[in-house]
Amino acid sequence: MCEDATLAKVVSFLESFSLSLETLRDISTRLTKNMIQGLGRHTHHKASVKMLPTFVRATPDGTEEGDFLALDLGGTNFRVFHVRVQQDERNVLKMDSEICAIPREIMTGTGEQLFDHIAACLGTFLESQGLKDQVLPLGFTFSFPCEQKEIDKSILIRWTKGFNCSGVEGRDVVQLLKEAVHRRGDYELGFVAMVNDTVGTLMNCGYKNQSCEIGMIIGTGTNACYMEEMCNVQRVEGEGGRMCINTEWGGFGDDGSLRDVQTEFDLEVDRSSINPGVHIFEKMISGMYMGEIVRLLLVKMTKDQLLFSAQVSAQLQTKDAFLTKFISEIEEEGTGEENTKRILSDLGLQWGAADLRAVRTVCDVVSSRSARLCAAALAAIANRIRTNRGLDHFKTTVGVDGTVYKKHPNFSEELRAVVRDLAPCCTLDFRVSEDGSVKGAAMVTAVAQRIAAQSHLIDDSDDDDDEPRDV
Ligand code: BGC
Repeated sequence: MCEDATLAKVVSFLESFSLSLETLRDISTRLTKNMIQGLGRHTHHKASVKMLPTFVRATPDGTEEGDFLALDLGGTNFRVFHVRVQQDERNVLKMDSEICAIPREIMTGTGEQLFDHIAACLGTFLESQGLKDQVLPLGFTFSFPCEQKEIDKSILIRWTKGFNCSGVEGRDVVQLLKEAVHRRGDYELGFVAMVNDTVGTLMNCGYKNQSCEIGMIIGTGTNACYMEEMCNVQRVEGEGGRMCINTEWGGFGDDGSLRDVQTEFDLEVDRSSINPGVHIFEKMISGMYMGEIVRLLLVKMTKDQLLFSAQVSAQLQTKDAFLTKFISEIEEEGTGEENTKRILSDLGLQWGAADLRAVRTVCDVVSSRSARLCAAALAAIANRIRTNRGLDHFKTTVGVDGTVYKKHPNFSEELRAVVRDLAPCCTLDFRVSEDGSVKGAAMVTAVAQRIAAQSHLIDDSDDDDDEPRDV
């Protein structure tokens, strides 16, 4: 078959991945409906987009300062940080950090094993920093859906992104961490604040830039948070002001509302995951799954005689063998073709010139769909804030983090272009911050401590107060 004919077949094969602006607009509207359902007092329990109150109402006022520990669990690695909040410079300085791997058997072992592992990594870090005798406050960036009761009480709703430790869902994560530290007995923790990574990213961005009102992650998983009017947050008492809502948009589609846009490959990725039926939107978009979608496509196309002279290698048949980072490498301007040759050879495939072009097209189509779907979701949030405030035009900053957004060569550009189309009355400025979620968690902890200290000064007898504690 001549090269052009092959490519034409490949393109038609990939048709189910192309989403028109019309479809994206419709998806955006569906998400808005789901968000309203998630916020409703009587509808939230069956909503797939959970819209979780975070009890973060205030952005930092600049008076916060001090040393903090920060933990980050939920991305590719577990990380421990020592950070310093500097009042005068409105800055969060990373003093030191350490990465600890979480072995696969711990990711799917018992909760006790996981928290013992975390406490051990923290212990080693404190030892190496000479901090073991200090009782430092800790911001815990825990990037999973949690029902937050207070800033220091957070019940895990469910695991996502390949984690599945027994005995943690339905439990307070702060308690589990404290118990693990207590079991060791060689150091103590101060006040612990629980923060989703989107919220940390928003807070870090908001510290420097008051107009930052949306936090977004597109990495191993995907999610966003934003400042919602309190009068719409029906599950929390109080009408005035705003609260940061963790949307958990990864769960969009768990009620079947994306069934018409899921391809057979999305269905297969979901079926073979450790949590079928859960986080459908995330499985169409994020770094944990995009490579696998490409792999399934390549296998099917090879079997249909469109690629690699119909010869599938053993490696290509192996689940998760095609990493999401390969997509970025293949689409890279300039080095893309050489990278493709190396990646395909490493996967044991015999390729020709037509295969190189076809594989690049497959990667393009899958990453572009991801960027467009994210844009539809982000547009839903931006349009909602604009409508909430009755504005003709709304301008804000979006704090962003995540490897897919940061590393893919065209992802951010495509996302921004599509948001402009879907939310024409909103101007979004995007700010990427290194370690933003962790620095933001330290900020949240600092604010929580300041408020706790202030209320302690006002009322010393407040110790067994049952009221939810806000930031
Ligand atoms: C989690 C979110 C998190 C996102 C990005 C999702 O799987 O449910 O809580 O914010 O990943 O890390």
